[in-house]
Amino acid sequence: MRRLLPEPAADGLDPYELYGDRPGLRVGMVMSVDGAVTDAEGWTDGLGGDADFRVFRTLRALADAVLVGAGTVRTGRLGPARLRPDLRERRGGPPAPIVVVSRSLELDWTLPLFTAAETPTIVVTSEKARGSVPPTVRAVTAGEDDIDLHAAVRQLRDLGHEHLLCEGGPALTTSLLRAGLVDELCLNIAPTLLGSPRHTRLLGALDTPAEVEPAAVYLDEGVLFLRYRV
Ligand SMILES: NC(=O)c1ccc[n+]([C@@H]2O[C@H](COP(=O)([O-])OP(=O)(O)OC[C@H]3O[C@@H](n4cnc5c(N)ncnc54)[C@H](OP(=O)(O)O)[C@@H]3O)[C@@H](O)[C@H]2O)c1
Repeated sequence: MRRLLPEPAADGLDPYELYGDRPGLRVGMVMSVDGAVTDAEGWTDGLGGDADFRVFRTLRALADAVLVGAGTVRTGRLGPARLRPDLRERRGGPPAPIVVVSRSLELDWTLPLFTAAETPTIVVTSEKARGSVPPTVRAVTAGEDDIDLHAAVRQLRDLGHEHLLCEGGPALTTSLLRAGLVDELCLNIAPTLLGSPRHTRLLGALDTPAEVEPAAVYLDEGVLFLRYRV
């Protein structure tokens, strides 16, 4: 990986150090050059390749908890939190919990994400819906009838999860941005054009344009890594 901005630096840089300045809430997502966030199979594996995975694993290793929307879980492709030995050593502990945000709780509770996670997966939902969470799954409630994302983030911080990573999908990321909760957007641009209307775009509607400031740009195996302060 080499750095193009703020000041150019040669190849061989370590993503763990580059991304080590952990903000309060960081979004980490990958998209094609034309803005698609899913590959032809409706998942992300076909988008960024090894270079993207290296940064994906790094952002997870640096986070205290990893937020995902229920829509992403419903693809059935999201496994339980794992950590490679080298990153486990650097992190100095087990993987961060995955935190699934869901109002409906229409989730497959038999997925390994809920039954086989080394660090148990947490579900964030409303008070009203909480009764539908199986007793084996840890729940955090935030908001009475609907999820209050500010309260959810506060509760996670109260549990010691100070530095949060949101991995998407677009609906949850859009809501976090609309709520003003995002500090940094880490956007990995895969060197491909997908061009199909089936593919989901990075964000939904925002009430007002969000001001972002470019903070850093890296390049690795053709993938551009953009960091914006929000
Ligand atoms: N390129 C990438 O980096 C990337 C990353 C992740 C996912 N993806 C792709 O994105 C797609 C899924 O994205 P998505 O946008 O459909 O779903 P999503 O953002 O993963 O999940 C949306 C769901 O989150 C729950 N939620 C609870 N409170 C919410 C709130 N305030 N705002 C928004 N959502 C809230 C709702 O769950 P309930 O319906 O259960 O109430 C909602 O339906 C998949 O195809 C996945 O492969 C791409």
